[in-house]
Amino acid sequence: MNNRRVILVSRPTGVAQAENFAIEAAPVEPLADGAVLVRNEVLSVEPAMRGWIADKGNYSAPVAIGSVMRALAVGAIVESRHPDWRAGDVVTGWFGWQEWAAVEPTAILRRVTEADLPRSLALGVLGINGVTALLGLTEIGAPKPGETVLVSTAAGAVGSAVGQIAKILGCRTVGIAGGPAKVAQCLEKFGYDAAIDYRAAGLGEAIEAACPRGVDVYFDNTSGAISDAVYPRLATGARVVICGTASIGSWDPWPSGPRIERHLLVKRARAQGFIVFDWRDRWDEAVARLADWVRAGRLSYQEDILDGIEACPDALAGLYRGDNFGKRLIRLAAGEP
Ligand SMILES: NC(=O)c1ccc[n+]([C@@H]2O[C@H](COP(=O)([O-])OP(=O)(O)OC[C@H]3O[C@@H](n4cnc5c(N)ncnc54)[C@H](OP(=O)(O)O)[C@@H]3O)[C@@H](O)[C@H]2O)c1
Repeated sequence: MNNRRVILVSRPTGVAQAENFAIEAAPVEPLADGAVLVRNEVLSVEPAMRGWIADKGNYSAPVAIGSVMRALAVGAIVESRHPDWRAGDVVTGWFGWQEWAAVEPTAILRRVTEADLPRSLALGVLGINGVTALLGLTEIGAPKPGETVLVSTAAGAVGSAVGQIAKILGCRTVGIAGGPAKVAQCLEKFGYDAAIDYRAAGLGEAIEAACPRGVDVYFDNTSGAISDAVYPRLATGARVVICGTASIGSWDPWPSGPRIERHLLVKRARAQGFIVFDWRDRWDEAVARLADWVRAGRLSYQEDILDGIEACPDALAGLYRGDNFGKRLIRLAAGEP
């Protein structure tokens, strides 16, 4: 049995491009004691992969040159040499950009038990994106009914969930996204009260018009010029959830920008970073809550599905071009999702 896998062959300084990866084939080795063999069905593409590859400025050890690209995936166990796991179990975890993954059970994030919903959701609205949205918003943003929640990458996988959850919690929601099509999607599909195209002129004035009492919670997925326009418009007592830096093209050299301290001081505001992997003990509870909202039709999602492992090398660069509408995924096996 051959395993096709995506190898990191060189380390980019900015966003990884297709030429930083190569696809190679290698036989699936006999399974070691204590391991499980997962047939990957859907692979995830995360903006965070840029950080996982980088050798500075990130929260995890960089992917080694010559190794399989680190990635979340969902699939079914086809062989188990561990007593807690059986062939047929559907699982999501750190299985990498490859067709088959022989892993220790520590690589498994969770058993996927939502049999009534597409398995691919375990990578998006019922996975890293939804859990980030729910816990980042509620634990760090702590929104109160009636407050204004402003979200960047508002039409994306995390952002679209943040906007809808904030609405469920009784907030007024304003989204910032790139281009008229994503702005329309924010308003029509994800129920934002207002949406702003950051590529159009006058971002600061547009934020002011959409948030006349200021921004109570800013869910920041981009940093950069968007955040520069938001900080002067925070409301007194605002909370900033620093979740992503999608607009920063490269960390070498480290980018500089306007000072934000005066805005935080005068507005008695708080800005705090959030990393979803610090919240492993809350993951199951968060997924259960998100799944209930999906089943009830209160939480919509959009998937951006590419086909075949050949799509992997350019998939990350595409995210940073803004090509994706919704959660970017690579589908490997027929039938699912
Ligand atoms: N902290 C955590 O634990 C955690 C977990 C998951 C995700 N995240 C972060 O959450 C953010 C969104 O992730 P996602 O998976 O939901 O991706 P996504 O929003 O579905 O896709 C990424 C989006 O980033 C936007 N973008 C790219 N370059 C940009 C730029 N220069 N300026 C402004 N926007 C730009 C594009 O949207 P437009 O077309 O609208 O520009 C693109 O569609 C990312 O920053 C990611 O790293 C953080």
